[in-house]
Amino acid sequence: MKLTDAFTFDNGLTLKNRVVMAPMTIGACKADGKVSQDDISYYAKRAEHVGMIITGCACIDPLGEAFENSYRVFDESCIPGLSQLAQTIQHKGAKAILQIYHGGRMVFPDVIKSTPVAPSAIKAPRNFTAQPRALSAKEVDDLMQKFLNAIHYAIQAGFDGVELHGANTYLLQQFVSPHSNRRRDKWGGSANNRMRFSKTLVKKAKKLIADEATKPFILGYRFSPEEIEEPGITLHDTLQLLEQLIIHGIDYLHISSSHVWRSSIRYTDNNEPIIEKIVQKINQRVPLIAVGDIHTKDDVNRIMDANIPLFALGKALLLDPEWPVKIANDRQDEIITIYRDELQHHLALPSRFVQDLRGYLEGDY
Ligand SMILES: Cc1cc2nc3c(=O)[nH]c(=O)nc-3n(C[C@H](O)[C@H](O)[C@H](O)COP(=O)(O)O)c2cc1C
Repeated sequence: MKLTDAFTFDNGLTLKNRVVMAPMTIGACKADGKVSQDDISYYAKRAEHVGMIITGCACIDPLGEAFENSYRVFDESCIPGLSQLAQTIQHKGAKAILQIYHGGRMVFPDVIKSTPVAPSAIKAPRNFTAQPRALSAKEVDDLMQKFLNAIHYAIQAGFDGVELHGANTYLLQQFVSPHSNRRRDKWGGSANNRMRFSKTLVKKAKKLIADEATKPFILGYRFSPEEIEEPGITLHDTLQLLEQLIIHGIDYLHISSSHVWRSSIRYTDNNEPIIEKIVQKINQRVPLIAVGDIHTKDDVNRIMDANIPLFALGKALLLDPEWPVKIANDRQDEIITIYRDELQHHLALPSRFVQDLRGYLEGDY
């Protein structure tokens, strides 16, 4: 397996290579969550050399917004802008995947100008978070429908798929977590009940896609394998969740991790890479996307040797959109590894993004 090998999903969607652009929120949208020219320029620059781009997360409901100036998929007014974004990516030769999310208890109250909602009224143990209120059973049903509506808009806009953002402590993860979900109805309690929102969403989304999509359209799921909270999601929970997602027809799984080979954040005396357990569990039934601190050809070879078919890049593509060709052609010494202001135009990075993340962009590669 090589980086430059094409990859075809079971439904026929083919990527020109194994490189995926990781979803990254850059806060470049218009204030009303519509796609801006800065978004278009940023993605156009990066779409040429990767197989697939997963966009920064798009919010499905006003109470779910964790970021300002980020995509909103609340109603059909989002379709023209998203359509332009999907076409920009596709014309450069990559597949376009829209990541959709709801922030649940992890939103800033100042951003949503209301009380955050969550599976249960349990505050996240983070400084910036506020006390959320518990969603009513009707609100849970409504949110399920809003996720489905967002998938409908993505299909209408011409995307090649959506990724359900079930990671990074947002709402889908909050349903799975025994910390944030203490419900006693069918959405909480047992591990099986805590997984019900995600698996029901996948089941309904597959039906919607089968009914509405007129070309191959994939449904992916991003997950965080563990969480630090006590009680919190364990690897055992995650392996059960992945089994359910596979049974219900997920097209790919995408881990969220700061380092591909990182070990458990819960059992710190265990040095085994978590991803090895995940690869074993998936057992080639669906493709897995690895992520986290991938920078060199050796990093790529180690992933391919482990039979992981796809990998995503965040920082590497922020700093160098040509990373895939430079790696493939053994031009590793030409890769841009640190941000400098004279590169801003070439990298099509929006000014506010550079201003807010300067330390990160100029920091260790
Ligand atoms: C600026 C920035 C924004 C991000 N936004 C998202 C996001 O919207 N959705 C998501 O799932 N992950 C998000 N992430 C995490 C990345 O997808 C990725 O997992 C992380 O950057 C690790 O990959 P890397 O080491 O290649 O950068 C973001 C990361 C960065 C740096």
